[in-house]
Amino acid sequence: MKKTILAAAAAAGLASMMLPVVAQAQVSPPETQVNALEGLFGKQASFRRSHAKGVCASGYFVGNAVGRGLSTASVFNGDKVPVVARFSVGGGSPKASDKGKSVRALALQFTAANGEQWLTANISAPMYFVSKPEHFATFLQVRTPDPATGKPDPAKLKAFSDANPETLLQAGYLAKAPVPASYASANYWSTNAFELVNAKKESQFVRWQFVPEGGFVGLTDDQLKSLPDEFLADELRKRVAAGGATFDFKVQLADKTDQLTDPTKVWPDSRPVVPLGKLVIDKVEAGLGGACDKITFNPLVLPKGINPSKDPILLARPAPYGVSLGRRLTEAAK
Ligand code: HEM
Repeated sequence: MKKTILAAAAAAGLASMMLPVVAQAQVSPPETQVNALEGLFGKQASFRRSHAKGVCASGYFVGNAVGRGLSTASVFNGDKVPVVARFSVGGGSPKASDKGKSVRALALQFTAANGEQWLTANISAPMYFVSKPEHFATFLQVRTPDPATGKPDPAKLKAFSDANPETLLQAGYLAKAPVPASYASANYWSTNAFELVNAKKESQFVRWQFVPEGGFVGLTDDQLKSLPDEFLADELRKRVAAGGATFDFKVQLADKTDQLTDPTKVWPDSRPVVPLGKLVIDKVEAGLGGACDKITFNPLVLPKGINPSKDPILLARPAPYGVSLGRRLTEAAK
């Protein structure tokens, strides 16, 4: 059947238009990426295949004049923009420990008064763990235990890491960073680059971050020992009930020399970081579920005035998010 279609396309002079699509699909199929998550973490029916453990929250965002100077996006107009949020723990297990050295994450859906939406999903590390979409599945597969030994094959893991040393950078960062004491005391980075465009059509590439108002607070080893595996959601509920959790939304401004297409490489600290607004979380769901659950935080849903960069990792995200959404929404409820 496939041969017939290709032959027909070639006859119609369409082969050259079709081949790149076919080639691309073979490089990094989203099903393979999601299957690799299931291979490592098990098939967790009805849960997200990545960042399975999380809590829904909501609040609002207020943009400032610096934001309006850099981008025409309606979210910066100074009005309160309602936000649906989801805080989560990295990995594909809904039972992941809140004490683990994985990332924490903050995903947001902004809905401006003009109906425009902005979806973004950010992690508590300034870099991502792979630089190319085609490495995503392999990164997970070489860490997946071999059924015969119960352990990953050390030779495969070493060969992949030696060939792609950038895939060790995030784990190195997380190993040194203290475990966050609260979902509201971690920094959350976009890792991918985006382009801001203002009313004069001036362009500025940025990476953004949500910075907790009280600064990063981590746990000491003694505090870690005294805590149960589940504490983050309740801690956030108590904190928000007592007055809310606030983050500064900041962007790091790229220099013309900075690469925009590799989220494993952080930009130099010398690049300016400027605040464009504040995010306030003022409600947390009492239990599992809530408005965030049916959303997939596709990072290419952007308001006018924010454009995606050409980062292949960023451009590859919507497809596996859709696959995971499709699986979890059609499986038996939790
Ligand atoms: C090729 C690269 C990537 C793949 C294959 C991938 C895959 C996935 C999948 C399958 C989900 C679950 C989606 C759902 O069920 O709604 C997800 C969620 C998520 N991803 Fe990615 N991802 C990639 C890149 C990134 C990057 C670069 C970041 C860094 C900021 C990131 C951060 C997140 C976060 C925070 C969530 C949870 C969002 C939520 O709470 O719903 N991902 N990812």
